Parts: sequence; structure tokens; C-alpha cells
Amino acid sequence: MATLKLKNLSKRYGKTVWGAKDINLEVNDKEFIVLLGPSGCGKTTTMRMIAGLEEVTQGIIYIDEKDVTFLPPRKRDISMVFQSYAVWPHLTVSDNIAFPLRLKNLKSAEIEKRVKEVSSLTKIEEYLERFPRQLSGGQRQRVALARALVVQPKVFLMDEPLSNLDAKLRVKMRTEMKAIHKKTQATTVFVTHDQAEAMSMADRIVIMKDGSIVQEGSTDDVYFDCEDMFVAGFIGTPPTNFLSMELGEKNGKLLLVNSAFSFEPIGENYEILKNYSGKQVIMGVRPESMQVFKEKKPESVFSREVLVTEPQGSHQIVAIELDDQIVKIVAPPFPKVNPGEIVHIGFEHDRIMFFNPETEKRIRKA
Ligand SMILES: Nc1ncnc2c1ncn2[C@@H]1O[C@H](COP(=O)(O)OP(=O)(O)O)[C@@H](O)[C@H]1O
Ligand SMILES: [Mg+2]
Repeated sequence: MATLKLKNLSKRYGKTVWGAKDINLEVNDKEFIVLLGPSGCGKTTTMRMIAGLEEVTQGIIYIDEKDVTFLPPRKRDISMVFQSYAVWPHLTVSDNIAFPLRLKNLKSAEIEKRVKEVSSLTKIEEYLERFPRQLSGGQRQRVALARALVVQPKVFLMDEPLSNLDAKLRVKMRTEMKAIHKKTQATTVFVTHDQAEAMSMADRIVIMKDGSIVQEGSTDDVYFDCEDMFVAGFIGTPPTNFLSMELGEKNGKLLLVNSAFSFEPIGENYEILKNYSGKQVIMGVRPESMQVFKEKKPESVFSREVLVTEPQGSHQIVAIELDDQIVKIVAPPFPKVNPGEIVHIGFEHDRIMFFNPETEKRIRKA
């Protein structure tokens, strides 16, 4: 197994389009990294450069400290699985998996042993003599996975491998792939645009936007401690609510004010905002960091009529309107909240994030 290091990696298509810009990333041995971002943010470009399928415009790629930037794909010791399964239709499952080993001229006993191991790992032992057309989409993707694993690559690359599967199977495969990674311990870079997939699978999430990395960290880091409004809006469903607030002062106390309500920033929030008196800030608060009360409570900050509710079984989503904006709150399933009802709303103050409206960056304690 191995480490992977990207140093100032960039790719320009033609004269002006930057597919990836100045990517710096270190992937540790055995780590499962997920590159996450919306369509067009440069995930595939980055993967194709690592794999050697795309020429690098600038920067260096190291695998195990060795510069592989200009090595052809087959000399990099990587394996890649794509969204389209790319298994050979005219070969049986067994031959599909054995194919890369035969290319390497391995002995047939060794090939047989390895095919057996990976087909057990990926749960396709029963289908070894079938042809891909006799398999479901999920089974075909397992074959692709097995074929990539069988070569025991230093680095394992997967570009949206689950996105052609239906929603239920995708969730099941997440768990299985995580279990496979536990066993193989292969250093892995996994690409997805699906934040739930990323959060459930990753040791570390790397969030990309417009060709660049905007934040990296554990699931909890990128969820609770967002660097900017893009990350706060991208991660989590429903996404973070953003409220425009002005910082006023009343009787010597700092006050966060908007058209509907005002409240005093307390504790850490006071420390973060104390130099922002008179300025605008954006308050980011996650739907589950807001509370809905049927009765007015000391901790409720404002009252509002409920626009709609979305029951979800395990919880309910309560939507209200504020300054022409829909604000969503995740509440426990009971008591049921009804549209048209007046509710009282509070915040978990230590979960509120503040952003600079111009730069959209997080405002941190000075
Ligand atoms: N072969 C190409 N020629 C020109 N532009 C490309 C090419 N491949 C990708 N791009 C552009 O590079 C950017 C990143 O694309 P891509 O890496 O495919 O994003 P993602 O995989 O995150 O959806 C996009 O703006 C895309 O249009
Ligand atoms: Mg892509």
C-alpha cells in the first residue's frame, strides 16, 4: 500500500478553461479519501491526472514519494473504477477479473487464488461463469470493483462508481465498499457529487469548487465547522439556512437584528462578533440547530406561522417564511406541527456560524 501526494496540480483545457487549479493534497497510507463537489468542479479531471489519463498542465504527482507525473498509466500501480462499469461483455466474470493478471503474466495458480479471494470479498462467487449481460447493474459494478482490486494496486481510484445504481442499492453498496476497504486497507480516492455518500464513507472529505479545494476534514469538520457559505450550503439536507443580520447596539449591548427579530449574541458568538458592530453578517444555522416550540419559551427568539411541514417518519421538517426566504427546521416527529399554526423558534447558539457577506468566508474569533 502507499501514499499519494498532489502538489500544486493544475489542468488547463485549451487556453482558458481550468479543469483543476492548484490542487494540494496528501492521502495517507490506507486512507479512504472522498473528493466531493458539484458537477464540473474538477473531480474527474483530478482523478484522470492521478491515473495518468490526462496530461498535467502544472504540478507534481507522487505515489509513495516517487514522482509519477510523467509515467504512463500502467506504470503507476493504480487501479480505477468508473461510473460506467466497463466490464468486457464477451468475457465471463471470472475472465474479466483475471484479465489484468494475465496481462501481467502471473502464474495460473496465483491468478485462480486471487480471483477467488476478490470474488468472495465482492460477493460475486456465484456468478463467476456468467457473462456480464446475465448480471444486474449492481453485480456488474461488483465485477468492475473485483477487477480493480485483484491487481492489488498501490492506489485505488473510484470515480462515481455507484451513481448508475438505484438509490437503495447505492446505500447498500456504500456499506459494502466500506467493509471491503476495512479488509483490503487500500489507499483510496473516491469521487462523488453525493454529499450523503461522501459523509458516510470517507475517512476524510475534500470539498472542491470551480477546480479548487475549498475545505478538507472529517465528516464532522466539514459539517459543523464550515469554512465558507459554499460548504455550509452544499453539505447537509436540508441545507444550512442563511439569514442576513445587522449588528446593532442597544443599551451598550450587541444585538443581531433583522426585519423579523433580534437577539443578543452570547458566549462565543459575542467574542466572534464584538468588532462587527454596525456591520452586516450572514448567520448560518442548520435546520436541526433550530428549535420549534408550540408554546412561547424563554429560549424562543421569534414567532412565526408555519408554511408547510414535511413529515419524514423519524423527524418532521417545518418550513417558515422569513424575508421572502424559506427557512427549514428539523424537529422531532412529535408533537406534530401543522401548517398555519403559530410556532416559537429558538436557536442552538453555539451551533450558529457567521459569514462575511462579501467574501462569504466564515467569521472567526479574532
Ligand atoms: N476534455 C475537456 N475539454 C475541455 N474542458 C473540459 C474537458 N474535461 C473537462 N472539462 C471542463 O473542466 C471542468 C471540470 O470538469 P470535470 O473534471 O469533468 O468535473 P467533475 O468530474 O467534477 O464533474 C468543467 O468545467 C469541464 O467542462
Ligand atoms: Mg466527473
